[in-house]
Amino acid sequence: MRIGMLTSGGDCQALNAAMRGVAKSLYNKVDDVQIYGFLDGYRGLINNTYKLMDINDFSGILTIGGTILGTSRTPFKKINEPDENGKDKVEAMKHTYKELGLDCLVILGGNGTHKTANLLYKEGLNVVTLPKTIDNDLVGTDVSFGFQSAVDIATNTIDCIHTTAASHSRVFIVELMGHKTGWLTLHAGIAGGSDVILIPEIPYDLDKVVEAINKRINDKKHFTILAVAEGIISKEEMLYSKKELKEVRKKEHYPSAAYRIGAGIMDRTGQEVRVTVPGHVQRGGSPCAYDRVLASRLGAKAAELIINKEYGYMVCVRNNQIDKIELNKVAGRLKTVDPQAGIITEAKAMGICFGD
Ligand code: F6P
Repeated sequence: MRIGMLTSGGDCQALNAAMRGVAKSLYNKVDDVQIYGFLDGYRGLINNTYKLMDINDFSGILTIGGTILGTSRTPFKKINEPDENGKDKVEAMKHTYKELGLDCLVILGGNGTHKTANLLYKEGLNVVTLPKTIDNDLVGTDVSFGFQSAVDIATNTIDCIHTTAASHSRVFIVELMGHKTGWLTLHAGIAGGSDVILIPEIPYDLDKVVEAINKRINDKKHFTILAVAEGIISKEEMLYSKKELKEVRKKEHYPSAAYRIGAGIMDRTGQEVRVTVPGHVQRGGSPCAYDRVLASRLGAKAAELIINKEYGYMVCVRNNQIDKIELNKVAGRLKTVDPQAGIITEAKAMGICFGD
């Protein structure tokens, strides 16, 4: 059996654990397995650059972050444009698959990756995918590996900020990853005891945020911690078209969302404000135990699908069980936080301000 394997999009913790799960399960059950590890995501499949792996390549990687295969972003909207060498990307990928005589492609990735994986499946290649992303925004799975590890790191960042914020009586803004969805900010914000949580799904009103800070001051709590996602948007900004908003942001010259809202808060409250942006630290380091288990289980399930010749699926978690879902139900859709969800209601019940 010849398997092609690749990791695509932004890396995250437990990618290696997931590949190990697939490989160990295949080597265990199938006599003759050859795994072609494509280098740097779809780029490796396009350029036919791979490493022929053996079982030892998957040893000792369970605890290691990043991806042993390397990764890259191959934007789906440019998938039909020729690459830098003038090659038709889709044709080149199909060609590599056929030339190597592959039986199946195992693709680990997030949203963009799944659009391309679904396209390749529709083009006739056998594909099985695994859900990776710290953003947790893949439709069809309750959770993706990488998410919990990132939540732990982001929570630890907020924990560290707590002691310094309290000592200096300042307002601290911690900006967490998530351009389109706020899962990571929501979970780390609650776990870290943030007073204000702002996410892209709930446009904020600066007045409400200022009110929350002033209330804390009146209650003799001399510091406030805000957890904000990269992609937050104010109610006012919602009135702009995408193009207009781009122009407005350009003129403001703020490096990111946290600085933008920080300036507003400083102006309106007179409080000292500090911004912390942990950035890619959230995607780095060793996967947490939860992600190691999750990725291993998803890996074993992917191997089962390959052995049973069940293609065109993403392995997933549904109601705490490892399951599968058709790729066309996943590709091109985004799992966002429902502003009416129980977790938001419960957080609000505890007095957390969402700026709405
Ligand atoms: O998709 C994962 C993610 O970490 C997002 O949360 C973040 O906005 C983005 O990737 C950062 O992308 P890059 O690593 O390309 O800067």
